[in-house]
Amino acid sequence: MKAFIVDRYGKKESLRLGDVPEPEVREDEVLVQVHAAGVNLIDAKLRNGEFKLLLPYRPPFVLGHDVAGVVVRVGARVRQFKVGDEVYSRPDDFRIGTFAEFIAIKEDSLAIKPNNITMEEAASIPLVGLTAWQALVERAKLKAEQKVFIQAGSGGVGTFAIQLAKHLGATVATTASAGNVVLVKSLGADVVVDYKTQDFEEVLHDYDVVLNSQDGKTLEKSLNVLKPGGKLISISGPPDPEFAEAIKAPWFVKQVMRALSFGTRRKAKRLDVDYSFLFMKASGNQLRQITPLIESGAIRPVVDKVFPFASTNEALAYVESGRAKGKVVIKVR
Ligand SMILES: NC(=O)c1ccc[n+]([C@@H]2O[C@H](COP(=O)([O-])OP(=O)(O)OC[C@H]3O[C@@H](n4cnc5c(N)ncnc54)[C@H](OP(=O)(O)O)[C@@H]3O)[C@@H](O)[C@H]2O)c1
Repeated sequence: MKAFIVDRYGKKESLRLGDVPEPEVREDEVLVQVHAAGVNLIDAKLRNGEFKLLLPYRPPFVLGHDVAGVVVRVGARVRQFKVGDEVYSRPDDFRIGTFAEFIAIKEDSLAIKPNNITMEEAASIPLVGLTAWQALVERAKLKAEQKVFIQAGSGGVGTFAIQLAKHLGATVATTASAGNVVLVKSLGADVVVDYKTQDFEEVLHDYDVVLNSQDGKTLEKSLNVLKPGGKLISISGPPDPEFAEAIKAPWFVKQVMRALSFGTRRKAKRLDVDYSFLFMKASGNQLRQITPLIESGAIRPVVDKVFPFASTNEALAYVESGRAKGKVVIKVR
């Protein structure tokens, strides 16, 4: 089959379009014919070698973390899916590879695709949808009367997280540049801070939850907009000791993560707020809870651009530019 392959780590390395064997399908997996693949910043960061410590993939490997497609084979122990099912997924770490014609995915990480959206739209959902779900529902337990600040509302995670938070009934603040204000308001944002001309720290106070996705300085300032007892959840680091524990990181990696997050944890403690790092996980079960929100129209996919399969490198470069409005998707067939 055709696939886009990382041959070497490096920022300037292009993915190579090559022929690789069809993936082996384990007993608890299904083979999915890829119709569309979502592109995420983690794809660029992985290729650059920025995740070597956390996710030590050994090149050559096929990149890609989001998929929508059709089941073409099922493993012997698979119970929930059959050949012909239209599905979507964020495959498990170390079983990625959606920039390809086929991918084998664990049954537990798969869900039937929402029936009211295209394959391209469906491929835009899993990674960012699960990230928002795991941050706002699972970890923050966001409630209707609460206020949440979701950074970068016009991005992949932001466009989904704003809609999810509104669905939960919360008041939502976000940051966006002037050109994206209309977009984030249309998704439900109540308060929009223009990050190029305003300082969110001056505008936002007494928030219950912050979803941080930006740099260290933004993280630092985010602590100050929370009320005592509030929660700062960061998806852009620094990783904390609980995360190191959860992934069973080796001793030295644990020490690195402890050191990296030390300042943030100390300041959080002083302000009586909770800091935690989140690294999203594959989950078919949570995707199944997201599906009805899409089918009811409570959450709509926001797709900026669809690239043809042959232009996968261009799609990755566009995502890496940091200017995408919502999601970027590759149409594979
Ligand atoms: N830990 C995890 O599990 C996890 C999961 C998903 C994502 N992430 C991370 O979360 C971050 C966001 O991911 P994403 O996919 O949402 O990114 P994205 O879609 O590439 O974000 C692009 C958007 O961010 C906006 N933006 C850029 N700088 C901004 C700033 N300083 N303030 C506000 N908005 C800004 C841009 O708007 P303008 O063009 O107007 O600047 C653009 O619309 C990345 O670092 C990603 O790696 C982590």
